[in-house]
Amino acid sequence: MTISFDGRVAIVTGAGGGLGRAYALELARRGARVVVNDLGATRDGTGHSDAAARVVEEIRAAGGTAIANDASVTDAGQVEAMVAEAIAAWGGVHILINNAGILRDKSFAKMEMADFRAVVDVHLIGSANCTKAVWEGMREQNYGRVLMTASSTGLYGNFGQSNYAAAKLGLAGFARTLALEGARNNVRVNTIAPTAATRMTEDIFPPELLARFQPEQVAPPALYLVSEDAPTGVILGAGAGVVQAAHITLTRGVALAEPTPEAVAENFAAIMDRDGEIVPQSGAEQAMTILQRLQGL
Ligand code: NAI
Repeated sequence: MTISFDGRVAIVTGAGGGLGRAYALELARRGARVVVNDLGATRDGTGHSDAAARVVEEIRAAGGTAIANDASVTDAGQVEAMVAEAIAAWGGVHILINNAGILRDKSFAKMEMADFRAVVDVHLIGSANCTKAVWEGMREQNYGRVLMTASSTGLYGNFGQSNYAAAKLGLAGFARTLALEGARNNVRVNTIAPTAATRMTEDIFPPELLARFQPEQVAPPALYLVSEDAPTGVILGAGAGVVQAAHITLTRGVALAEPTPEAVAENFAAIMDRDGEIVPQSGAEQAMTILQRLQGL
């Protein structure tokens, strides 16, 4: 079965290069009309360029339909104007890929709070601004596909990236809740944790691996997650053609007769034991497992 985006309107943020460009090109090749958003920043989020316009030229040259937009995702007013422009041009927005991002790496000891805020602002608040601007329209039209971009750093941690990690795991939690809230109106929300050789990672990839980890290899799982038959609430890892699922799991745990810190210490191995571990589908499900535990189930 071919996955087509004919008739769909998609916004891809940060699509002037790297992964976003690969998503935008492939969405357009498969029939979507695409808003290519990018303010054309450098890696740390400063500066401007015409990166979005150049990707739009590439899409048009290949026979696709796209418009460039240079809104900063951190500016709710500019984001609302971008969504209004897409709706005026093409009637609605069906797909949003929140991909724009910056880096300000430093160990937490050396990090200024301004760099912490800037990274959270682009990734987390930027994604919330864009999602907020399309959310009501998606609910009303009973169709929406939203993709958040997390990272292995957010899911598992990486030295020197505390700001980025906080934003990225925040996005995964944001997506899980929106998946629940969007379900009734056919709005599905997923998360991708990509690994690709882009300017963001060029200095950490060994040269021999650069060619294997092309952004184009992350586009297939990303597009699947915004397609008509997409799942919802899923976190996929993707790089170099390998696609993985990440789960936030819960162990069976221990019901402590006397819940003292000493009892936690004594039972720590049993608390951590992964035998019988589950993946709750909502926060409420964790509370249910506590009640079941108390009933000795
Ligand atoms: P990239 O630096 O090529 O792309 C990010 C784009 O976002 C740039 O074109 C930049 O101009 C744009 N941007 C930055 N601030 C913006 C703002 N305020 N408004 C609009 N656009 C803005 O890097 P890459 O690798 O393509 O990153 C894409 C996404 O994937 C990011 O969210 C990144 O954190 C994430 N990611 C990438 C990984 C990788 O291995 N390349 C690993 C994990 C996550």
